[in-house]
Amino acid sequence: MTSAPHRDDAIRATGLSKRFKTGRTYIEVLKSVDFDARHGDLTMVMGPSGSGKSTLVACLSGLLRPDEGQVQALNQDLWGLRTGKIDKFRLDHCGFIFQGFNLFSALTALEQVTTVLKHTGLTKAQARDRAVVSLEEVGLGHRLNQRPAELSGGEKQRVAIARALAKAPRLLFADEPTSALDGENGQIVIKLLQRAAKEHGAAVICVTHDPRLEAYADRIIHIEDGAILDDRRVTSGAHAAPHSHLIEA
Ligand SMILES: Nc1ncnc2c1ncn2[C@@H]1O[C@H](COP(=O)(O)OP(=O)(O)OP(=O)(O)O)[C@@H](O)[C@H]1O
Ligand SMILES: [Mg+2]
Repeated sequence: MTSAPHRDDAIRATGLSKRFKTGRTYIEVLKSVDFDARHGDLTMVMGPSGSGKSTLVACLSGLLRPDEGQVQALNQDLWGLRTGKIDKFRLDHCGFIFQGFNLFSALTALEQVTTVLKHTGLTKAQARDRAVVSLEEVGLGHRLNQRPAELSGGEKQRVAIARALAKAPRLLFADEPTSALDGENGQIVIKLLQRAAKEHGAAVICVTHDPRLEAYADRIIHIEDGAILDDRRVTSGAHAAPHSHLIEA
């Protein structure tokens, strides 16, 4: 169901298949899926539980090798790279945000972000400055020294977003980033993802169950039983609030 190649394509996958062995049988979780996503778009992937959404994101982002098919990511044949190069590609170009935040309990908000900036060639002071900017961008400039236990769920997810955005990734993957949050915090998070696409030009691929988030999408892809059923671009420009009013710190 892919459209013709587009100059803003960040990812283009063709014929992705993935099977898992359960007992003596195989279940086919992705069935020759074609998928593409563009820079500057918030692309939402929706579909019922077990339909293959997380598996798709894992195959697109270099976390899980598909059994068949190709992923062109930033004009590289992702699964044609050696394992070490795939890891490097992920480190250099991909940001990840998950439902469970995945923060280190012993680290402060600031440390969560500076940690991922090691090995980027920045000095300690530069990494700290970059991390502060990133945390300020998500409205947490006043929570730099708090540890996860001292942060609310919404704040934790914003730390995770700051961490993902600090490296200015070209590809941002979010898997159910709002499902552990209430409606208000869910909206803050989705607006931050939208901003990553609009202001930073990232290709943002967001898996969600939440129909309230549809209003923020540029494109909505429905997947069911391992296949794409529907792929529509949202043209209404229903992108609610102006960016500058996103966060009240
Ligand atoms: N490592 C694995 N081994 C065996 N089966 C797996 C594995 N990972 C996923 N599956 C199966 O693949 C199917 C799709 O899983 P996936 O996690 O991609 O679904 P999902 O659409 O993300 O669902 P949810 O909305 O519940 O997160 C499920 O039936 C799941 O049980
Ligand atoms: Mg999932």
